[in-house]
Amino acid sequence: MINKEPISIIDNEITSAPKVGNVLISKQQIKLRIKEIANDISKDYSGKKPLLIGILKGAAIFLSDLAREIKADIEIDYMAVSSYGATTKTSGIVRILKDLDEDIQGRHVIIIEDIIDSGLTLSYLLKNLKSRDPASLEICSLLIKKDTQKLAIDVKYRGFLIENVFVVGFGLDYQQEYRQLKDIRIVENAHHNNGY
Ligand code: IMP
Ligand code: MG
Repeated sequence: MINKEPISIIDNEITSAPKVGNVLISKQQIKLRIKEIANDISKDYSGKKPLLIGILKGAAIFLSDLAREIKADIEIDYMAVSSYGATTKTSGIVRILKDLDEDIQGRHVIIIEDIIDSGLTLSYLLKNLKSRDPASLEICSLLIKKDTQKLAIDVKYRGFLIENVFVVGFGLDYQQEYRQLKDIRIVENAHHNNGY
């Protein structure tokens, strides 16, 4: 029998409520990976006292766990950036809401990010921080979405490579919620069209 009911994709989208679903990465996996990354950083930066720059708000929880596993001397600073809504996805325009407290000229800098999606936020930050003349500049990101980066970015320290799904927990939010989850979970039916 033929179903004569019209199928409305638009109705579907409106009625499907977002829901925090399955665990993608467990807290044990995160803990282990953070230790491994911290060991690499401790080795690579021994005697260099790197400055870890956490990108607020998403990277705050990752940075606080990572920093406590690093055995070398480090310093910590934070930056907050915001995207210009939907236009950011294409233009890559990023606004600095909170700048660094310290001058980074001659410093060994590691940017700490929660997740790299299109890569637009990071490529702006890289350009901006490079112009301040640091001795070195590297990136450390807890998560990287596969095949989504529009720009080739060299990420020295990578936590996990994930599929192109929307995730929350361990600092990552969906409309400012769920940052406190101890593991990383998938959001089903996430409506994220305005630069997160
Ligand atoms: P990009 O500029 O497209 O790489 O976006 C990076 C920023 O978007 C991240 O720092 C996050 O704040 C946010 N973001 C991207 N994907 C997700 C996700 O799956 N969950 C939560 N936030 C995300
Ligand atoms: Mg972020």
